[in-house]
Parts: sequence; structure tokens; C-alpha cells
Amino acid sequence: MSKKYFITTYGCQLNVHESEKLAGVLKEDGYEPAQNIKDADIIIFNTCAIREGAEDRVFGNVGALKKLKKENRDKIIAVCGCMTQQKEKANKLYEMFPFVDIVFGTSNLYKFKEFLNKSTKRLLAYDENFNLIGEDMPFYRTSGENAWVNIMQGCNNFCTYCIVPYVRGRERSRKSDDILKEVKEAVNQGYKKITLLGQNVNSYGQDCGEISFSELLKKVCKIQGDFKVTFMTSHPKDLTSDVIDVIAENEKILKEIHLPVQSGSNKILEKMNRKYTVEKYLSIIDEIKKKIPNVRITTDIIVGFPGETEEDFNQTCELIKKVGYDGIFAFMYSVREGTVAEKMPNQVSFDEKNKRVNAILKLEKEIKKGKNNGNN
Ligand code: SAH
Ligand code: SF4
Ligand code: F3S
Repeated sequence: MSKKYFITTYGCQLNVHESEKLAGVLKEDGYEPAQNIKDADIIIFNTCAIREGAEDRVFGNVGALKKLKKENRDKIIAVCGCMTQQKEKANKLYEMFPFVDIVFGTSNLYKFKEFLNKSTKRLLAYDENFNLIGEDMPFYRTSGENAWVNIMQGCNNFCTYCIVPYVRGRERSRKSDDILKEVKEAVNQGYKKITLLGQNVNSYGQDCGEISFSELLKKVCKIQGDFKVTFMTSHPKDLTSDVIDVIAENEKILKEIHLPVQSGSNKILEKMNRKYTVEKYLSIIDEIKKKIPNVRITTDIIVGFPGETEEDFNQTCELIKKVGYDGIFAFMYSVREGTVAEKMPNQVSFDEKNKRVNAILKLEKEIKKGKNNGNN
């Protein structure tokens, strides 16, 4: 009987795709997916650090594995990903849960095969060097007709609330030839949707003199076959007209764009270090709507960033109404250790954040209702 694995993934699509890489390594090693966590010979938690809630859940769920390990001491338990890319968190988890065998961060993903075949009893791998990204890791795709294709790693933007630049390192673009080869393979294997992934896809290529993101999109669209293309995530400061034109002109590209605005107050946007104003954001939205009829626009909003007043929040609601989003992901601001915003004064209370998130959900429903009734 073959050995079995069970992977639990937290966080964004990048993590989902990295779990496909872990699965690829396991498959090569003779493992098969387990239907149930109890049946697995290796259990992996691929973690996220974006908000406190995501980390709390990991601590809770890993803790619950103690019983399984007691029943079968040969089970391997591994915890990896963005949360364990933070030194203190990795140490804490390793010390708190002696039944966890392997702990490693995102920068060490490419060493997973090595860790799997290790002879030592327990292992805690921590590395701040992100230079090696494991270009040749195998993967086992698990997202139905969709193929995730990573085009870059890391982020240079340092939005003041965000942990990502610390747990993913600086921007590193993959070579366009490697990306195109991967897309071709996926299309030949029958995948109908290709999703290009990066924390900030619009700055693709800038770190290494590669072609621009719009050029990359054009080349992807030239690949023969019956498939659609989409991408995430775009940062408004880098979304240029050439990208909007390529989306408008190419049938293969889905007419949808996720453009996180975070706040509708210029004061808050500045404190967030987003590097655009509400006016600039709205002018991009105007251009998108003009050039791409029936485009689906979605966004992310953070409520309760330090110093966000009722007036700032009302400005966010005004912006939401103006754009008339097709979908909103609203989050309560969560303090992240080591970020600039952690030390900012005037942190907003949980109750206030909760109230604001609910107000946005209500607004989203109203917009949806209006759209269903035919007024855009
Ligand atoms: N790179 C993408 C977003 C990655 S994180 C971008 O820049 O748009 C996904 C979303 O999580 C962000 O858009 C933001 O809305 C939210 N987020 C990030 N850090 C957060 C924090 N500390 N508290 C609450 N939400 C946060
Ligand atoms: Fe975080 Fe900002 Fe980078 Fe997005 S662009 S990952 S929000 S630092
Ligand atoms: Fe979370 Fe890491 Fe993605 S922090 S949102 S899994 S890049």
C-alpha cells in the first residue's frame, strides 16, 4: 500500500500553488493523497501570516494533532509557509509542539525533498536568504480546470500594515521563457484557465530586465489552444494603460480585474504607503471601464487602519459606491509584528472595526441588488 499525505493550506493562491509543489515532491516519492487526515503518513500545514486570525488557527489546529501522533508515532508532521518564515513564530511552534517533526519557512520550500529524506529526528530550518526559489520543483495541480502559474516571488512595496515583504522577500521575476513553457504544458494537458500569480504582477520583469507584464500577457495569449487567462494581484500604482489595452484587445484574457484599493481616504492611503491617491485610483477605474465594457472589478478593503476616523471610513464607502464593485473582500486591520503600522498611534477598537466591516458587507449587498435590477 502506498504512503499517504494530507496537506492543509491557509492563505492566498500563492500558498495553494506552493502546496501543489509539496504534493509534487511527495508524489515523486511514492505518496498518494489521503482522503482523511487520520489516514495520512505525513500531515503538512502550509501556513499564512497575513492576519492574526490566520496564525491563531494554525496554533489551534496543529495542537489538535497531538492525539494523532500519540496513536501513531511514525506519522510525520510538518509546518511550513509564511508564518514559519518568521523566526520567533517558527521557534515558538517548534518548542510548543514537540510532536511536530519538521518546521520550515517559504525561503526553504525548495529543500522540502531533502527535509523529507532527513535522518535526524526533528528539524527546524530557518533561512533569511530568498535567492533560491526552486525553479525545478515538480508540482501536482489540484485546482480543477485552473492552472496556477507563478510569474514572480516576493514584494517590494512595504505597505505599512503588511507582513508579506518580510515573509516572501524582495521581488524576483521568473524568466519569461520558463513561464511560457509552463503555460504551454498546462494548455497541452487540457487546463482551460491559466491564472498568473504574483503579489504585484504589474511590476513583473522590472527586477531583472525581463519583458514587461503587458508583453508577457501578449505572449501568453499567442499560445495555441482553447484556454482563458487571468492574473492576480494588481497594484494600482503600477497598473499602466498598456496592460488595460492588452486585456481589452485579447479574447483569451478574462474581462475581470482585482484592484485592491484598501481605503478611500487619501490620508489613510498615505499612511499605508500605497503610493496613489483616491483621484488616481478612480481615473484608472474610469479608463478600465471605458476600454473594457462589462468588466468585472473587485477589490480588497482594510477597515480600522490606525488613525482611521469615521470621516475616513465614510470616504471609503463613497469610493465603493462610485466604483460599484462586483465583489469586495473587506478585512479588519490586524497588527503585524515588525511592520511600520504596528507602532502607529490611534489603533481602532475591535468593536469599531467590526461595525465598519459589517457596514461594507451591507453596502456590497446593496450594490449587488442594484446591479441585478439593471442599474450599473
Ligand atoms: N499583494 C496584494 C495583496 C496581498 S494580501 C496587494 O497588494 O494587493 C491580501 C489582502 O490582505 C490585502 O489586499 C489587504 O487588504 C489584506 N491585508 C494585508 N495585510 C493586512 C493586515 N495587516 N490586516 C488586515 N488585512 C490585511
Ligand atoms: Fe502587502 Fe502591499 Fe506587497 Fe500587497 S503590495 S503584498 S499589500 S506590501
Ligand atoms: Fe498569507 Fe503568505 Fe499569501 S502571508 S496571504 S500565504 S503570501
